[in-house]
Amino acid sequence: MALDLKTLLADMTLEEKIGQLTMTAGSYAVTGPIVGGDVEAAIRAGRIGSLLNLWGATEIAAIQKIAMEESRLGIPLIVGFDVLHGHRMIFPLPLAEACAFDPALWRATARAAAREAAADGVSMVFAPMLDVARDPRWGRIAEGAGEDPFVTCEFAKAKIAGFQGEDLAAPAAVAAVAKHFCAYGAAEGGRDYASADVSERALHEVYLPPFAAAIEAGCAAIMPAFMDLAGVPMTAHQPLLRGWLREARGFEGVIVSDYNALAELMRHGVAANLIEAAALALRAGVDIDMMSSAYADGLPQALARGLVTEEDIDACVHRVLELKQKLGLFDGVLRGARRQGRDSAEPALARDAARRSIVLLTNHGALPLSPSLRKIALIGPLSEAAGEMDGSWAAAGDRNAAVSILDGLTAALPTTEMFCAAGVAVDYGNAAGIADAMALCEEAELIILCLGESAEMSGEAASRADLGLPGRQRELAEAALGLGQKLGRPVVALLSSGRPLTLPWLFERADAVAATWFLGAEAGHAIADVLTGQFNPVGRLALSWPRAVGQIPLFYAARPTGRPFAAEDHYTTKYIDCAVEPQFPFGHGLSYSPFSLEEFAAGRQSFCARDTLDFSVEVHNLGPLDGEATVFLFARDLVASVARPVLELKRFGKIALPAGESGTLRFALAASELAFPGVDFRPCFEPGAFEFSVGFDADPRRHRKLSLQATAP
Ligand code: IFM
Repeated sequence: MALDLKTLLADMTLEEKIGQLTMTAGSYAVTGPIVGGDVEAAIRAGRIGSLLNLWGATEIAAIQKIAMEESRLGIPLIVGFDVLHGHRMIFPLPLAEACAFDPALWRATARAAAREAAADGVSMVFAPMLDVARDPRWGRIAEGAGEDPFVTCEFAKAKIAGFQGEDLAAPAAVAAVAKHFCAYGAAEGGRDYASADVSERALHEVYLPPFAAAIEAGCAAIMPAFMDLAGVPMTAHQPLLRGWLREARGFEGVIVSDYNALAELMRHGVAANLIEAAALALRAGVDIDMMSSAYADGLPQALARGLVTEEDIDACVHRVLELKQKLGLFDGVLRGARRQGRDSAEPALARDAARRSIVLLTNHGALPLSPSLRKIALIGPLSEAAGEMDGSWAAAGDRNAAVSILDGLTAALPTTEMFCAAGVAVDYGNAAGIADAMALCEEAELIILCLGESAEMSGEAASRADLGLPGRQRELAEAALGLGQKLGRPVVALLSSGRPLTLPWLFERADAVAATWFLGAEAGHAIADVLTGQFNPVGRLALSWPRAVGQIPLFYAARPTGRPFAAEDHYTTKYIDCAVEPQFPFGHGLSYSPFSLEEFAAGRQSFCARDTLDFSVEVHNLGPLDGEATVFLFARDLVASVARPVLELKRFGKIALPAGESGTLRFALAASELAFPGVDFRPCFEPGAFEFSVGFDADPRRHRKLSLQATAP
């Protein structure tokens, strides 16, 4: 029998209502201080409605039992956890997985993570992260899908479908929390938690669309970002939370604050005390207060002073209860909390996701590795570091279970002798180990450098001002490159990181470089698959890779300038001390098979807003190996009332082609998707000429192009 939530609500005391709006830590703190107190007693008294940072079927069944059998109203708890890239089985970091450009994969890994998390009693996951980010200094760039709003929208849809499935009450479904609403990726100077101040146009064109996509995909919850947007902290942002999310977009789900964010309204300087903080957040539409005692301690007085109404509180409580009902939590303490054991397909999925995420940045013939190699030197601090392979936010993952690069290569090349040495530490220490490492390199026929960041150097509160190799790694790499050149030994570099690193000297001198990010539990096997040619690389950059920190923010969808760069003309846009182009453009990524694009055609020459445009392009695999090409379809509105970006991604597609063969890739695009926020920010579709282009990356010099005419309806 369906529970009558209105009757339940009518029976609740104010304290019990506020309890439903309070989320506190169940066990240990991942990102901040724990609010003290006896959590179990508070649950019994109906003062806590949800928990975070707790997982495990037994633990959660026990705590649900307290809530459902020992509290007056028997209301179950929501248990939230950061399942950002896998739960126990860790998949690649989102930024890495975005480089696979594979919505079916994005969905499959979210499904697998949901299955494991739900079996561990988790009912809400603080994912996906939908912050478009164009500044790799910001450590949280690792958690999202890169620089492009269209890709982030596709990522949002796939992840939400994977986490939530068709029915939130199904045993393997969890409520997704789209975060962090919004423009968190635009933090000033790339400094986490810093203010963001973006234009209304950027908001509508870049930062809001992924959240619109999340709402359309039925996302159960949304988390406001920590920072302030032009002076208004997102946790208290009435125009965007209540106005845009709820009223304009019809979002009826739950808004859950970030960790302690309500209390931080005082530090932002918009609330003098917890009473004002609680009132600001509640009026803006925040339903659940995560880890600050603002609602518990401040709401009663806010109500007494008339800063909020009981109807406001009831509306929040109703949304929380409704989500609990949708999740089937009222149906029994064991909902979902049954350890079903790992799905045996998960390691294979993790390996496939990992190898699809690797981006081969350069290759002058050193890869794939020759099967006749007898001795390889594996040098660098990331070569044996299994514990680093998961990257940040692998909260329930078993770090020691990840496969290191050494173990992966040893398994793949059992007859090759591997000489391994860290040489230097990732981020500190001296260079004393370099000489020994070079002695090993002298013995080898090929050198593989395993360089980059430690897992915690990206993610939350991990902004960097310098995007070079940390510590003494450059010295190690320079020594190996010098030795390689002297002895005629190829040097291959693997970059483990949660962001692009600015290493022009390495790209110039190494024989091959691959971005291997943080790939999760199967990292070593996946890397070996790509290095040996067992798997032909398919990863493409989901963000532009800068040459220098000074180029940041850097993204392909820039607006045209009145003075485009021209080498022969001084008064054009450029840097006088650095190339204007990125090191590698958005979409870049090599394969062991060269591909070409031919015959780009459209089904019509003119169109109006109601039409669907059909495009086709022929793709050729020119190489001796089977491979998979990724093709991007871009649009450019040539003349409009508002200057449009030089390129806008509208579709991406993949085609698998056997060696030497060709195939046709088709794209269907609703012309209405060419509308843009007009001068008044209302969607507008303007007649005129559009240029469409296809390419393997965002460098227009290599695109196939055609022009079509948009007409009035
Ligand atoms: O989900 C996270 C969020 O992304 C950052 N602050 C803490 C939350 C819960 O752990």
